[in-house]
Amino acid sequence: MNEHASHDTIRAVQWHGDHLALLDQRLLPFEERWFNCTTADEVTDAIRVLAVRGAPAIGIAAAWGVVLAAKAGIPLEPVLVTLRAARPTAVNLMWALDRMRARIAEEADAAALEREAQAIQDEDLAANRRMGELGAALIEPGSHVLTHCNTGSLATAGYGTALGVIRAAVEAGRVSQVYAGETRPWLQGARLTMWELVRDGIPAKLVADSAASHLMKHGQVKWVIVGADRIAANGDTANKIGTYQLAIAARHHGVKFMVVAPSTTVDMATETGEDIEIELREATELLSVAGTRTVIEGADAWNPVFDVTPAALIDAIVTERGVILRPDETQMRALFG
Ligand code: MRU
Repeated sequence: MNEHASHDTIRAVQWHGDHLALLDQRLLPFEERWFNCTTADEVTDAIRVLAVRGAPAIGIAAAWGVVLAAKAGIPLEPVLVTLRAARPTAVNLMWALDRMRARIAEEADAAALEREAQAIQDEDLAANRRMGELGAALIEPGSHVLTHCNTGSLATAGYGTALGVIRAAVEAGRVSQVYAGETRPWLQGARLTMWELVRDGIPAKLVADSAASHLMKHGQVKWVIVGADRIAANGDTANKIGTYQLAIAARHHGVKFMVVAPSTTVDMATETGEDIEIELREATELLSVAGTRTVIEGADAWNPVFDVTPAALIDAIVTERGVILRPDETQMRALFG
């Protein structure tokens, strides 16, 4: 048992040599069913429908999709293009596919591509462990924290980004209470983060997204800790819709705001958050809860699923390469080139 095992029990992306097994995140917390992919197209579908989700996890899954195609002897360029188009915002997807493309350009065979995908997965887990240590060190003992969306083992190779920091901080006695926002409309916080926290025995309370400002005023919250889908060269950060309003509320209440993401989420080719494509998903996701329509027939909805938090509202960006306090382009360039 490793040092982190007591607060880290889930591996949602599993390679089995001839297929990729994904713990289907549409069905949690009530059903633990595996979505088995034997083709790259099935991996693309799994990413599109959010059977696998979270920036690092979709990059890892896509890399395994390329391996499935290579093993089947399918031309790889169209596969790379299809996988890349599965979702637009999380740059980890493009990063992982670019890394696989570079190996393909060197005429790597299926076995070499398999090793590359495994390396991508293993490196993500190692990065999460490191970020856990670095992020936890910023938190005063006994703190209450608020997180948003799901950034845990389900969203990564394991352990998690923001949730990895929370796991490490709980172990170190630095976090005594976690609040998780529901994360409407897809309920990543309610369905997935609470599932991880409860399974790992971490003291956690669910809050409605709309309770966040009231909680910051009264709940002794010292940090808001979130993940990221893409961090631009100036530190602007795209993450799950609702993150931006948390950052505004945190600044208003003197609560610190931490972004935790591996370097694979940093996109130095994107200058500012203005240049990040924000995924719009179907209105139906917002017009119903768990498949039951909650809004009058005929109503329409606007459903952007990410937003951009300006760097000026971020107190710390934690990556496996180090911590940037009050991020700006100069510090980003110093760490990421
Ligand atoms: O739409 P999702 O569930 O894929 O969005 C996920 C998030 O926004 C996470 O906060 C982000 O990917 C970081 S996961 C470590």
